[in-house]
Amino acid sequence: MKKLTVKDLSYKEKLRLLCGDGSWHTCDLDGKLPKVKVTDASMGVRMPDENGKDIPSIAYPSLQMLANTWDTDAVRKYAECVAEDCLDAGADVLLGPGVNIKRSPLCGRNFEYFSEDPYLAGIMAREYVAAMQAEGAAACVKHFCCNNLEYNRNLQSSCVDERTLREIYLKPFEIAIQAKPKSVMCSYNKINGVQGSENAYGFKILRDEFGFDGLIMSDWDAVYDRAKAAKAGLDLEMPFSEKNYQKLVSDFENGVISESEVDSCAQRVLDYIYGVKELAMGKKRKYTREERISFTQTVEEEGIVLLKNNGVLPLQNGQSVALCGQYASPGESLKVCGGGSGNVPRLTPPYDIPALLSAAHRGKIIYEPAFGDRCTVYGYNPGAAINNAEICDVNIVFAGTGAYFENEGGDRVYMGLHPVQERTIIDTAKVNKNTVVVLFAGAPIDMSAWIDKVAAVVLAGFPGERGGEAVVNVLTGKVNPSGKLSETFPVRYEDTPAAKSYMDGKVTVYEEGLFVGYRYFDKYGVPVLFPFGHGLSYSEFEYKNLKTASDGEKVTISFELKNTSATDGKEVVQVYVSAKSSCVSRPVKELKAFAKYFVKAGERIKTALELDKLAFSYWSYQGAKRELEDGIYEILVGASSADIRLIGKIKIKNGTIKEI
Ligand code: BGC
Repeated sequence: MKKLTVKDLSYKEKLRLLCGDGSWHTCDLDGKLPKVKVTDASMGVRMPDENGKDIPSIAYPSLQMLANTWDTDAVRKYAECVAEDCLDAGADVLLGPGVNIKRSPLCGRNFEYFSEDPYLAGIMAREYVAAMQAEGAAACVKHFCCNNLEYNRNLQSSCVDERTLREIYLKPFEIAIQAKPKSVMCSYNKINGVQGSENAYGFKILRDEFGFDGLIMSDWDAVYDRAKAAKAGLDLEMPFSEKNYQKLVSDFENGVISESEVDSCAQRVLDYIYGVKELAMGKKRKYTREERISFTQTVEEEGIVLLKNNGVLPLQNGQSVALCGQYASPGESLKVCGGGSGNVPRLTPPYDIPALLSAAHRGKIIYEPAFGDRCTVYGYNPGAAINNAEICDVNIVFAGTGAYFENEGGDRVYMGLHPVQERTIIDTAKVNKNTVVVLFAGAPIDMSAWIDKVAAVVLAGFPGERGGEAVVNVLTGKVNPSGKLSETFPVRYEDTPAAKSYMDGKVTVYEEGLFVGYRYFDKYGVPVLFPFGHGLSYSEFEYKNLKTASDGEKVTISFELKNTSATDGKEVVQVYVSAKSSCVSRPVKELKAFAKYFVKAGERIKTALELDKLAFSYWSYQGAKRELEDGIYEILVGASSADIRLIGKIKIKNGTIKEI
C-alpha cells in the first residue's frame, strides 16, 4: 500500500482523520489506510469485547509493584511480555504506561502509576517504552499532565507553578520521551485553567523542548472543542464523537481552524498509523504464553516489599500457621487488582494461598476467611480466626483494598484498611504476638491502629496471575524479598501536603510546590511510617569505601557492598543529591541514580554509578531553563531515603564538576 500524505487527501478526509473510529480504532478512510487498534493498559492488556465485557488476558502485577522492583531488567521484560500480549490480542498500541506523580496517597489510580519521584517514574517509563516498542507494540505515555487525583477529574484544574511543573510533573514525561514513544495521551483535568486537550503550552514543551515527534491523543471524551484542541496540537480525538466531528467540519468551513493547522495534525496521524504498523512488522514472539504467565510471578517476587520484620519471617519448618482474610484465597468475587481501565480479568484461576502454603511448608496450616468480599460483613464476627491465631505458632492476616476501593474515576476516602480488617488484625494479634500482615493494596495504607501490635508486614500490592505463589515464596524464604517502596507510606493522610493544600470542587492548588513525597517529609521533618525507598531483606548489607571521581562533566560514584548475612540477597542502592550552598529553595535531597545488585552471602561487590551535570541542576525562573549553580553538593548513598549509609562531596565551579 502506497504511503499517503496529507497532499493525497481531501479536506474532509483530513478532518475525519483527526477523530478516531469507534472506541478503539483510528479511521481508515474506507480502506485507504491501515486501521490502528489501541487497548488498555496498566496490569496487562485490558480489551473489552463487542458487549463491553473485558476479555481475559494475562494479569501482571500493577505498575506500582513494577516500580517497587527498582529493576530496569524486570521493567523491560514486563514491557516485552505485555507488548506480545497486545499483539496477540490484535492491538497495535498499548495505552500506557501511566507516569503521573503520586501526589496524594488517596488517588484512585495510584496503582497505575510508578512513583512519587519524577526520576524513578521517568526511568521506569523510558525503559518500559523502549522495550515495548522494540517488541512491536506502540506505547502511549499518559496522562499529560498533572492528573494526580480522580476526584472531579473532568472539572478540576491542577494549579501548579512553573518550576514545580518542570522539575516534578513534566519530568517523567521528559525522561520517557527519550525512548521515542509513538504517542502521548492528554489528561482529563485542566492545567492552570487550560483543558488537558487544549494544552498548547504543554504540547509545545513536549515537542520543541523534549523532542517528542509522535502523536498526541485525547483521553477518552476529554475533548470539548475539537478545533481548539487541534489548534493547540492535539492530533487525535478518542473515541469518535459525531457531534465533535461535525462541529470540526463547520469550524473549518467557517475559517476557525486553518488548513495548515489541520494538515499538521493529520500528517502526524498518518505518520502514526504507518509508524505503528511498521513497529510490528517481522516481529517474532520471544516468550510463550506460559513463560509470560510465569514471569508475572518473577516480577511480583522482585517487587514485594518486606516493610517490617522482627524476625518472624521467613517461616520456620514445623511451625503451625493460622491464616485468615479472604485476600488469602480471593475466589472470583474479590478483585485483588485496581478497577477501571487498568483492570485485567486474569487468565488463570485466582490464587489460593492456604493450598499453596500447605504444599510448600512443613507444619500445620489452618485457614479461616474471617472477612469476605468487599468486607461487607455486617457486624464483626471473626469466629474461628481468633481461636486459630491462639493455637498456632504464627498468625497471618491477608488484608487489603482491591478494585472496590482503588478505582479509576474516584479516590479512596480514607487511607486505612476497612474497619473489619483492622479489627481482625488487632484481635488476632492480641492472642498471637507472631502476627504477620500481608497487604494487597495499590497505594499506601494507614497502619497506625495496628502497626505496633504486629510482628511483620509484607506489601504484595496488586500481584497478578501468580501472586499467591510469589507471596508464599517470600513467606517461606524461598525468595528473599528485595522490593523497595516507590512512594512514602505516611503515618496518616493528614500528614501529607495534598491533604493540606487548597482544593475545592474545581481547583486544586499545589501549594507545596516541589515538596511532594519524601521531598515534603524531609523538608518539614514530618515523621513517616515507611520512607520512600524502604524495604527489608532476609540479608544484611554493609556499604563501605565511597569514592567519587570526576572528569568535569560527570561523577562516578563507587563503593563496596557486602552481604554480611548467611543468605544470598539483592539490594536496591539509591543515590541522592543534596545542594549544600544553593541560592534558591531546593529539596533536602533528590534521587538521581539507583541500581539493584545481587550479592551472595558473605560476598562483597564493587559498584559504580554515574551522575551527569543534570543531576545537580534546577529549573530557574530567571533563565527560564535548567541551570547549574556553582557550589558544594553532597552525594548520599543509601538503602532508603531515610537510611543514608555513605556521604561524598563534590564542588561545581564555573560549570565544571570538581572532586573534593
Ligand atoms: C482513562 C485512560 C484509558 C482510556 C481508555 C480513560 O477513562 O483515563 O487511561 O486509557 O479511558 O480506556
